[in-house]
Amino acid sequence: MKAMSVPSDDPVESFQEPDGVLSGRLIVTIDGPAGTGKSSVARQVAARLGLTVLDTGSMYRAAALLTLRLGIDPTDGRRIAEALGTHRIEMDFDAESANVLLDGSDPGEEIRGNQVESIVSIVAAHPEVRDRLVAVQRAVASSHSKLVTEGRDQGSVVFPDADARFFLTASGQVRATRRVEQLRAKGRDVDLESVLRGIDARDRLDAGRADGPLVRPEGAIVIDTDHLQLVEVVGRIVEIVQIVQIVQNVEADRSAGGEA
Ligand code: DC
Repeated sequence: MKAMSVPSDDPVESFQEPDGVLSGRLIVTIDGPAGTGKSSVARQVAARLGLTVLDTGSMYRAAALLTLRLGIDPTDGRRIAEALGTHRIEMDFDAESANVLLDGSDPGEEIRGNQVESIVSIVAAHPEVRDRLVAVQRAVASSHSKLVTEGRDQGSVVFPDADARFFLTASGQVRATRRVEQLRAKGRDVDLESVLRGIDARDRLDAGRADGPLVRPEGAIVIDTDHLQLVEVVGRIVEIVQIVQIVQNVEADRSAGGEA
């Protein structure tokens, strides 16, 4: 399987050549609440550095879709986890944008629809569900050792030993405005107030759950994106990751020299 390729309609990505495939293992985590631009940032960081990108939210969305399709009560974590044992959620890294697959098919926009949106935080709160999806995420990292992964618990729980960890923030108002723009661009009729309420409710569920809650991972670099363009957030992360790699290479050279 190859790493994701760059979406050609993105103006930033389309003119930039990757800044070089970095050597050795490299895991970069980007966590933060909804509407901070994590997915776009992660895709562009991956394109700039030649890394594979993993959108873990799409995996929880696929689990929520499976719950709906099978008519399982979203509060029944045990039954959802059982269903995950017999159905497959995996990533298609051959696709243009590293899509999630549910039982081998791309669910497309269905995982972004209202029905999934209304239960995904409930589904994602079950420890049995998280255990299964965390195992898939770690398996991805063992087969794609140059990875940028984004979600809520990537730097805190799934990859606490990641090489570089980031936590993106933005005010509720800015996040809701971005979400409204995204949804309106897709032709959805939405109003700011209800989107803001939805974001607040999901934040509370994501941050309040016992297992893998939304937290700033220890040692993560916080980037407040309120007054930054996407390209600026991407630029900061790319620079920091490159510095981390230089330091790691110097340390590796030093210990190899010491051993000689
Ligand atoms: O990032 P997103 O909006 O696509 O995430 C969808 C839901 O999945 C959201 O409620 C948070 C949850 N999620 C999670 O609990 N852990 C992750 N690593 C990623 C997403």
